[in-house]
Amino acid sequence: MALKGLAHIALIDVVEGLAKGKALDLSQSAPIEGFASTVQGATGYEALAGSRLVVITAGMSRKPGMSRDDLLAANAGIVGPIAERIAQLAPEAVIVVVTNPLDIMVALALQRSGFPRQRVMGMAGVLDSARLRAFIAQRLGVPPTAVQAMVLGSHGDLMVPLRGSITVNGRPAAELLPPGELDGLLQRTRDGGAEIVALLKQGSAYYAPASGIVEMAGAILQDRHAVLPVCAALQGEYGLRDVCLGVPARLGASGVEEIVEMPLTPDERTALAAAAEQVRAGIKSLRP
Ligand code: LAC
Repeated sequence: MALKGLAHIALIDVVEGLAKGKALDLSQSAPIEGFASTVQGATGYEALAGSRLVVITAGMSRKPGMSRDDLLAANAGIVGPIAERIAQLAPEAVIVVVTNPLDIMVALALQRSGFPRQRVMGMAGVLDSARLRAFIAQRLGVPPTAVQAMVLGSHGDLMVPLRGSITVNGRPAAELLPPGELDGLLQRTRDGGAEIVALLKQGSAYYAPASGIVEMAGAILQDRHAVLPVCAALQGEYGLRDVCLGVPARLGASGVEEIVEMPLTPDERTALAAAAEQVRAGIKSLRP
């Protein structure tokens, strides 16, 4: 975000010195990179007072073999209180949640902040779509930006990649790849986070999630009205309500300006409903 000059940035971490150290390191790259964004670090939430955008990445990441849902109880205890503090200190902010299990943490942040649904969303679809685009680009030897794809649903096993949305230089991917191979790349996308966790042994993906956050932050802070796949609260769109799920949404300064309803195949509709059912069960399990 600093590299793109998107905002003045405050990093907050409860671990003493961590955010301050990172902030110093980042801000010392400014003379070389030529950005004017300032970066400060803090342990207290007061540093976020008055922010237009707050990104929540706090929480545990997965260990090898764990699913995102295994993090539910621990991360709910972290994200819930943070959402309350944001509501007190930055009552006009847009919140972007990144902590897993993503869709459930978005619902929790929405509940605990008391913000309107336009101002609370989650980052997952941009990342999942980027993974699919990268895999297809590598396979076909084309530039990654030549590949377009939209991945909806939950950020987990019930991800819903829209096959018809996948194009390479404007041509449907189905014309360029045998169906079995495309299926393999869709499955690798669903497992994309776990593949990295298994390799790293500790911690989880970092750079591509950061890029996903920056894409959303840019759309919001620069009021771009860009349509991106994001986790948003649904109230009737796609025939679903009272659930947070990955859907295409138009992002601008006010947050989610509109949830964009794309034509889905019957199978995609069924898959989206199944993802919604699973997320709803997770949200219910949060209630004491
Ligand atoms: C991943 C984590 C961030 O998908 O959920 O890598």
